[in-house]
Amino acid sequence: MFKKETYIKRREKLKKEVGNGLILLLGNSESPMNYADNTYHYRQDSTFLYFTGINHPDLVMLIDCDSGEEILYGDDYTIDHIVWMGQQATIASKAALCGINESQALAKLQAKLDKAKNQSRKIHFLPVYRHDNKIRLFEWLGVHPAKVSDEASLELIKAVINQRNYKSDEEIVEIEKAVNTSVDMHVAAMRMAKPGICESEIAAEMQRIAEAENGHLSFPVIATINGQTLHNHYHGNVIKDGQLFLLDCGAETEMGYAGDLSSTFPVGKTFTPEQKEIFNIALAGHEAAIDMLKPGVEFKEVYYQSARTIMEGMKSMGFVKGNIEDALINGAHAMFFPCGLGHMMGLDVHDMEDLGEVYVGWDGVPKSTQFGLKSLRLGRKLEPGFVLTIEPGIYFIPDLIDLWKKNKTNAEYLNFDMLEKYRNFGGIRNEEDFLITPDGKRLLGKQKPKTIEQVEAERKYAFK
Ligand code: GLY
Ligand code: MN
Repeated sequence: MFKKETYIKRREKLKKEVGNGLILLLGNSESPMNYADNTYHYRQDSTFLYFTGINHPDLVMLIDCDSGEEILYGDDYTIDHIVWMGQQATIASKAALCGINESQALAKLQAKLDKAKNQSRKIHFLPVYRHDNKIRLFEWLGVHPAKVSDEASLELIKAVINQRNYKSDEEIVEIEKAVNTSVDMHVAAMRMAKPGICESEIAAEMQRIAEAENGHLSFPVIATINGQTLHNHYHGNVIKDGQLFLLDCGAETEMGYAGDLSSTFPVGKTFTPEQKEIFNIALAGHEAAIDMLKPGVEFKEVYYQSARTIMEGMKSMGFVKGNIEDALINGAHAMFFPCGLGHMMGLDVHDMEDLGEVYVGWDGVPKSTQFGLKSLRLGRKLEPGFVLTIEPGIYFIPDLIDLWKKNKTNAEYLNFDMLEKYRNFGGIRNEEDFLITPDGKRLLGKQKPKTIEQVEAERKYAFK
């Protein structure tokens, strides 16, 4: 964890911004896979981590904005736990490490909350994504699980986002560690993927590299020859010469900071001429986005510039016809690029998605419902300290081609005969991570192979 002053400062700022009442921050518990003691990999809640740095289950923090009091609630291990799980630092000493002076048994929390409720004090809590925490809120505060999002505190949501959106220098060091491991993962995949092996062998190696650094994956690996399915988690295909391989994976550090990269490479030694052509259009869309990154620019405009570049390229190949600006307004680009351009990244790979994209990525502006644009997780004006991904892609999705062709959706702008010829092409995505600096942007971590030449140079190792 960082030094305790970091966490003290963050909580002081939080108290000031929320202003009054109590803040109830729920840590995560273990998640059983099939019975209570056989659990999934433990992941602390990112906001709890941000304000305490404590990576331990079953903790709750209560902060009194009026008196300044901070209490960490949790239960020390008994001999029954110690026999199976080993000795643990006490809750009091964990609290001390992040500058919290008081700790109490979890059983004491209810009385404290009841007292606050009887005094009609506001108890701020965040939206909850784990069902066990929804049950806790129901037990402690009587908030029905279906109402948790509605009753979550907007003041607290905004105050948390207003800190976590701006990464400090010490956070950037952690994020770059995560990105560097993620680059190692991508280079390893490019060097090992050979016709005849299974996607799962590459997925397994990605997990090994992340865990060998004493970290974890920052999200489930996408390692697939069916890259047209944006979040494809199936790893059972044997890969063949001539196919494209799409890899989207990243590591998170021991402290929980994420990296997130995507690469597309040929299963054979080199790209085919058709693959090269589409790859370079996707890469032009990627570079067009990077060129625009600087404070004050709206990310929605960056998305449109990337989409415009892709549409111009697709027009030059005959996939697109008519006026590009009209095509963009009508969302015709979503045939190839039906997702967003990027997202905030930090302690979560999609940073704070649990708190609501509208507040994190759109500064409170309601999102469009148009197909494609509705998936843009980030649209707001960029500011120094933001960390975000750039990940445009070109995808040929047979079901989408069929649907739009049948309904004549954007038929003015799309050449369905040409799309038909490429219906089994697959998908291409490249992704890199950037910090917005006062005068522009900075690539985070070391440079990943991303041009045709750079990728093909790595592919030579697979055939040695
Ligand atoms: N890398 C997965 C995603 O950004 O959705
Ligand atoms: Mn991403």
